[in-house]
Amino acid sequence: MANSKYEYVKSFELEDEVMLPNLILVRLTYRNFERFSEIHEFEKPNDGKALNLMNSCAIAVLEEYPDVVFSYGFHDEYSFVFKKTSKFYQRRASKILSLIASFFSSTYATKWKEFFPHKELKYPPSFHSRVISCASLEVLQVYLGWRQNACHDDNLYRTCFWMLIRSGKTKEEAKEALKDGQKQGRNELLFQMFGINYKKLPEMFRQGSCILKIEVEDVVKCDENGMPIKRLRRKPDIFHTQKIVAKKFWNEKFVLVKELGTLEEIGKIIPEYIRSFLFENKLLPSTYIIIRIDGCHFHRFSDIHEFEKPNDSRALNLMNACAVAVLNEFQDVVFAYGVSDEYSFVLKKTSQFNQRHSSQIVSAIVSLFSSVYVMKWNKFFPQKTLKYPPSFDGRAVCYPSTEILQDYLAWRQVDCHINNQYNTCFWMLVKSGKTKAEAQKCLKGTQTREKYELLSQHFCIDYNSLPVMFRHGSSVYRVKKSTSAIPENDNNGELQEVIVDHCNIIEQSFWKAHSSILGETPDDSDSQIIASTDASISEGHTSNYFCEQ
Ligand code: GTP
Ligand code: MG
Repeated sequence: MANSKYEYVKSFELEDEVMLPNLILVRLTYRNFERFSEIHEFEKPNDGKALNLMNSCAIAVLEEYPDVVFSYGFHDEYSFVFKKTSKFYQRRASKILSLIASFFSSTYATKWKEFFPHKELKYPPSFHSRVISCASLEVLQVYLGWRQNACHDDNLYRTCFWMLIRSGKTKEEAKEALKDGQKQGRNELLFQMFGINYKKLPEMFRQGSCILKIEVEDVVKCDENGMPIKRLRRKPDIFHTQKIVAKKFWNEKFVLVKELGTLEEIGKIIPEYIRSFLFENKLLPSTYIIIRIDGCHFHRFSDIHEFEKPNDSRALNLMNACAVAVLNEFQDVVFAYGVSDEYSFVLKKTSQFNQRHSSQIVSAIVSLFSSVYVMKWNKFFPQKTLKYPPSFDGRAVCYPSTEILQDYLAWRQVDCHINNQYNTCFWMLVKSGKTKAEAQKCLKGTQTREKYELLSQHFCIDYNSLPVMFRHGSSVYRVKKSTSAIPENDNNGELQEVIVDHCNIIEQSFWKAHSSILGETPDDSDSQIIASTDASISEGHTSNYFCEQ
């Protein structure tokens, strides 16, 4: 369609492709599982229902993404392994990890009632995720062995810990009692003090769960003689095994061998490899961080849920409510701007949120946004059932100055204007009887002014009288608390509320009037490169800086 002079901000986006022949692995963990499990009163040391819910979400991931061929999880984490030839999202790490975190979270919120019919989901679940690239199958094997050892150690510890608590010890006393314990000692403690044979506890608790795709034969139809026509289909199946990285287990699984390779028996776990599993990239210090998230296949999602065209206020208000939840949860997010199925979140320059670890910040935001979207769906669409969990991808970009950050936001608002004007014309033409191809042809090469005229002359629509949310998008930020409050925060003792506004953020006047948002105002020497105020998209103005193609 059209470009704006702000598009240069895209050059700040960095590539993060996982190069072949590295294997792509995504590791997902709850954000603050302890709090989540306390508030939802999960059974200790293991809650079977909560684990089955996690397993069910992991199965959904394997069903949704054909390239994920194996996954392993226990307690509060899950790991997903992609087939070695995967081209999923051009192997871009941020897209992949965000999508998995988002889909997992929205599925978790969707399935909650199925597993906890009598328990309310009290707040939106969210997860961290990261991509780990494994240089070879051997590295993957070390990773999986490391996680399964962790499952065992962790479960043994928690089993002892909660048995001691049940026997009357305080948390501190139980920790002290288990401080230097070896595996053998803990096994004995369980047996001697509580008569528990650890090996008899459920496999799912001790060994974790692995899900892999197996090939099954499905009858697709019958031929003219009534004979069944069968087709092979891959279906996720759940297993529990003592050693997932044993040759015997792995090499018998056709899909694993085909998509990842044959396993050799490994000796010990190599500590250097584990360092690489823990390594995470940090975003540049003293830069604004933008997290931009975008709905995945929302064209289909909006069709299936019959969103009004070109703008559905309910859907946009739902997106806004999710953005408000993000600002309420994360104090370092100081501003957000949203349009259509996308939202950009601005983190302040000095933010140390998640130690500026890129994957943690992206996944935390996208994951929370996704589960809130599911939880608030009914409020905005009381008459419509959510047919499947939505997902969003995300990325992080750093911007070094206030001016460039404001240009970034201007870029998104110009895009909103261009798209909305085009879409309004397009759908008016279609509603008036033109086919989609005819409407497209009609609009090809038209300038902003011509679209204004088309709307006013043919459809008696004054573009500037359309709802401001459609034309300007939505901005979300904090202001000093007034009497009529949306959710509130206590920031440095000052009561604040998060508001949704539909202002013009291209013009400097907005930033001058709200200088506290970014915590600084641009100095005079830089002000020349700021979009001049005549580049306004405000009422009645024909923007002269769009160079339409
Ligand atoms: P990917 O992001 O690449 O996965 O594709 P996408 O299908 O999500 O398309 P894209 O992000 O480029 O554009 C968002 C799409 O969401 C639009 O093209 C619309 O089809 C749909 N959409 C977003 N908001 C609305 C709305 O309010 N009403 C309707 N009808 N559709 C909407
Ligand atoms: Mg999209």
